[in-house]
Amino acid sequence: MIHYSCKNVDSMVIGSDDGLNLEEVFDEYSQRIKDIISSLNQRKDKPGQYLQWMNLCYNEETLWYVKEYASMVKGRFENLLILGIGGSALGGIAMTKALLHPYWNFLTEEQRGGYPRIFFMDNIDPDTMTSLLESLDLSKTLVNVITKSGDTAETMSQFMIVKDLLEKELGDNYRYNIVATTDKRMGILRQISEQEGYKTFVIPDDVSGRYTVFSAVGLLPLALVGINLDEIINGVKDMDLSLKNTDIRQNIAAKNALIHYLLDTQKGKSMSVMMPYSSRLKYVSDWYVQLWSESLGKNTDREGNSVHIGQTPIRAIGVSDQHSQMQLFNEGPNNKVINFIRVKNFDNVLEIPSIFEYTGIGYLGGKTVNQLMDAEADATIVTLTDYNRPNVTFTLDKIDGYHLGQLLYLFEFQTAISGELYNIDAYNQPGVEQAKNYTYALMGRIGYEDSANVLREKFNAV
Ligand code: PA5
Repeated sequence: MIHYSCKNVDSMVIGSDDGLNLEEVFDEYSQRIKDIISSLNQRKDKPGQYLQWMNLCYNEETLWYVKEYASMVKGRFENLLILGIGGSALGGIAMTKALLHPYWNFLTEEQRGGYPRIFFMDNIDPDTMTSLLESLDLSKTLVNVITKSGDTAETMSQFMIVKDLLEKELGDNYRYNIVATTDKRMGILRQISEQEGYKTFVIPDDVSGRYTVFSAVGLLPLALVGINLDEIINGVKDMDLSLKNTDIRQNIAAKNALIHYLLDTQKGKSMSVMMPYSSRLKYVSDWYVQLWSESLGKNTDREGNSVHIGQTPIRAIGVSDQHSQMQLFNEGPNNKVINFIRVKNFDNVLEIPSIFEYTGIGYLGGKTVNQLMDAEADATIVTLTDYNRPNVTFTLDKIDGYHLGQLLYLFEFQTAISGELYNIDAYNQPGVEQAKNYTYALMGRIGYEDSANVLREKFNAV
């Protein structure tokens, strides 16, 4: 399991201006947390509640179909190209970056065990898109296009470019190089898939994009590059079981949600830093940033009151950011709560040879980089705490599918509890939709003429 420590949030350690009396607040909120967890579990099967993400790990059917398709296409493609954005890409990126060999795409086919290289096209920068498309032999590339709505401009423009190229190269057979992950019934991609005869996977109803990592959205890319899905799903199931515990003292997600909520609303900690001490976990921070921002950044609560709440999440990485953001974290405004993620056992132990005797560096010889990483993380945590900066630490035994499944599900649950504490809808994203609509208007999509007029007026006013 994942170990969690929040002692450096306690007012006994960092003082009452910045810290919380944890025993007191756990007592005070114990019933509220009980009610929230029970209510989430009671509502999770009800349509319209957007809690289907809590059921994804129990969907044996999806797991079976994903695995079957992955084994069917194994060895047929050199490359896997994922088209998607936001929640349709970030989970897959976080999981593959953590679980695959860090330089997977440089390995030979044999070293990759016959599985393809993997590329995510999660932006529409014309330079990177063109370069990637020029570098891939598309005839040997499986393209997984992922979009729940089926009409996201970024993903669908990528798709239109890639489909056109594929069709020019492969003729009618191009369709076997495409697999679509989209809504069961709705959306243009579903329509196109049916017309063209693509293999498809379903993004279930009542799951917002940022909670889809354990649906076919995340699982299919992972299976296609040979990552063991059972390990991940077992991790999610075990974490789900442990998070059913309604006792706040026994529930990591509830503890961290309450700590963030109270630090934000009572102690002015309006930012949440996610700082893994592992390069492989770097993209878990990106995924967390979206989850925390889109879920909790809201202007109205459930009763329609204007609230404008939500902590700003910040990506950081240990140890690199000790030489970048840490100065600010230690001495700048005391407005952050820092989440460290530590790894107990790395896959490799790397020894530093004793080749110099200079006092300034001689001590490094004979030690391992692992020891150095640990020492630096310990030192950073103690320093931050000396500066009275609240911080919590998650420790993973190792980086594998089981622990990654646990970690991501834990953060999803923490976000859901936070949404309840703030009394907001953690599953919509009206602020994203508005910009999408303006883009459609600017690009001349039929039906968006009113938005186009509003935009024209605004531009003229500037
Ligand atoms: O979390 C979300 O709901 C969003 O980030 C979406 O995933 C993102 O906007 C992409 O949407 P779609 O999957 O419809 O293309």
